[in-house]
Amino acid sequence: MPSVIQILQQAESLLLERRVDSPRLSAQLLLANVLHLSRLDLLFAKDQILSSAQVQSFNCLLDRRLTGEPVAYLLGTKEFFGLSFSVDSRVLIPRPETEEMIEHLQKLFATDASFFFADLGTGSGALAVTIASLFPHSRGLAVDISLEALDVARTNALQHNAASRLLFVNADFLDSFKSETLDLIVTNPPYVTEDEYAALSHEVAGFEPRLALVSGPKGLECLQAIERCARMVLKPGGRFFAEIGYLQGPDARELFCSWSACTVLRDLSGKERIVSAVK
Ligand SMILES: C[S@@+](CC[C@H](N)C(=O)[O-])C[C@H]1O[C@@H](n2cnc3c(N)ncnc32)[C@H](O)[C@@H]1O
Repeated sequence: MPSVIQILQQAESLLLERRVDSPRLSAQLLLANVLHLSRLDLLFAKDQILSSAQVQSFNCLLDRRLTGEPVAYLLGTKEFFGLSFSVDSRVLIPRPETEEMIEHLQKLFATDASFFFADLGTGSGALAVTIASLFPHSRGLAVDISLEALDVARTNALQHNAASRLLFVNADFLDSFKSETLDLIVTNPPYVTEDEYAALSHEVAGFEPRLALVSGPKGLECLQAIERCARMVLKPGGRFFAEIGYLQGPDARELFCSWSACTVLRDLSGKERIVSAVK
């Protein structure tokens, strides 16, 4: 049977040959999962000999990774803002850029603030569950048109003891909620154009739900629907945050020009990423 270092080297070269993203990291994460070790501990255990059951489990995961399936789906979890979220092919894998929206909220609201919010297009519940966890006096609506996504979001809310303060709503962005009831709307809507979708990597387009990614020919259709909805349902002075595509800043500014304090915030890599506005 191979040692940890041998199986890692073999897997890395196979992944490299198939041009799978991050071959070394992928191999390490999958093997660490099979051996129930952290990535760091795995590197300390490089001479450990694997059992045949361990080799078999690893090879099953490796075969799937070789097709381009994302590591997060293979492991069934993804970390978001320090919390572990269950993920599978029913939901978008939460991205690090989206975590930056939470940092902006932490600057805006005290930990003990009491507010009512909606996460439009909640997917795995990454935003809604994180907000409910960080602000224990908040209550929120986790909205998604996909019933399957809402099942995943509910599981994550239960896992992080946030389910009692979240209501899971199966609705379209276009549906009207009760007017002027919300203090905050957060959203990471689909914002990829049809053309961009055709050019996305196989690891994204081949595995993540199209419904979570594509917003129509211009990529702005969901944001436009959300802006109309947000104008109705936010209280005067209510806050709005939406993630956008990095080239959509000018369109977002125009869309929110009648709102107060519309700003487009840049992400850590300097790209325009979040539109923030006040009703
Ligand atoms: C980009 S994903 C965001 C998921 C999660 N909020 C995150 O940041 O990881 C967009 C989500 O919007 C949902 N969605 C797409 N169209 C919708 C619509 N018309 N009404 C409500 N939700 C929609 C998708 O099902 C998907 O879960």
